[in-house]
Amino acid sequence: MSPYAHIAGWGMYAPAKVLSNQDLERMVDTSDEWIRSRTGIAERRIAGEKESTSTMAVEAARRALARAHLSPRQLDAIIVATISPDYLTPATACLVQAALGADRAAAFDVSAGCSGFVYALHLAHIGIAAGEWRSVLIIGAETLSRFVNWEDRATCVLFGDGAGALVLVASDQPGGVLACVLGADGSGAELLSIPAGGSRMPASPETLSQRAHTIQMDGRAVYRFATHIIPEAVEQVMRKAGLPLSAVDMIIPHQANIRIIEAARKKLRLPEEAFYINLYRYGNTSGASIPIALCEVAEHELINDGSVVVLVGFGAGLTWGAAAVRWGVPLPQPARPWHQRVLYLGRALLGRLPAFLRKLLYRLWHILPSQRDG
Ligand code: COA
Repeated sequence: MSPYAHIAGWGMYAPAKVLSNQDLERMVDTSDEWIRSRTGIAERRIAGEKESTSTMAVEAARRALARAHLSPRQLDAIIVATISPDYLTPATACLVQAALGADRAAAFDVSAGCSGFVYALHLAHIGIAAGEWRSVLIIGAETLSRFVNWEDRATCVLFGDGAGALVLVASDQPGGVLACVLGADGSGAELLSIPAGGSRMPASPETLSQRAHTIQMDGRAVYRFATHIIPEAVEQVMRKAGLPLSAVDMIIPHQANIRIIEAARKKLRLPEEAFYINLYRYGNTSGASIPIALCEVAEHELINDGSVVVLVGFGAGLTWGAAAVRWGVPLPQPARPWHQRVLYLGRALLGRLPAFLRKLLYRLWHILPSQRDG
């Protein structure tokens, strides 16, 4: 029998700095009224100078691992969904792996726009169901503030930074991830992109002066796509899970725009309370928006053991994806005594030591080429 992939831990991180609509009024020709009425967003978080996608991902991951009572060394794979990685290469997941000391884990990124987290969840699910992995950490993390043109009022008001993580574990208990559907339509690739900085348009003084390294978007076209794809993906994934739409307890949509979510909700004929919405406080955090919302739902106990939750994303690519999950933590979660918590912390810190020493060794290797070659 194939193992089931259960969510055993969750964690999120939002940077401390808040950028409100009033702050934006002082930066571009916009108003709090316009932003709220067209998007629903009131404020968003902005990463601090020393923060990046990997540092926020690590914070969220640590919280998810602690909740799952799992040490980083037990992880088989780390998947980071992001469109704002620390580097073009290496993958942000590798930076997370080293920072956590998860030295048994494979690590790679997924680039699927704002659907990236659902793509990552599907990969974790099939890796576990195939018996290949027992414990997988998936993270959605973004620092979109570094890819936004702060002079373009049509886009800069929409995006924010943050990270959310889940730990999935194999279990023989039925439940966990029930079904996933993924899709893409590359003919819409130009509707939402960062044109420069890749091999097609390498960085140059011209690309910099044209702001071609920032997010370019046809907002209306993306809006139309989103309002039809959310209901379609939700219906498809519930069919695949073998459940009627009425069995859904909570839908956690990608948090892009309140009007998009509202239009999708009406098409699905579901009540308002069936959708969790937190975009007022975070804006669109792309790959991080679904896991951040899921963390809040779990933290506030808005779902119970046995609840059916649907995660649904859409975004650049164009891509979309939905996952149906039966909530319920499969492992016993006893409150651990203090000495075990100290031991856990010690192990987590010690776990980072090998990666640190290897990093040191690589640096020495680089400094001493003559001895090496000789
Ligand atoms: N403040 C004030 N006015 C603004 C503005 C802002 N921040 N941004 C745009 N406008 C203006 C436009 O210039 C336009 O003015 P005009 O009529 O004089 O030309 C007017 O508002 C209407 O622009 P429009 O683009 O038609 O607005 P809209 O109702 O479609 O809303 C979005 C714009 C971006 C909010 C909406 O299209 C949207 O949410 N699209 C989906 C985007 C998305 O979710 N992307 C991420 C997907 S993962």
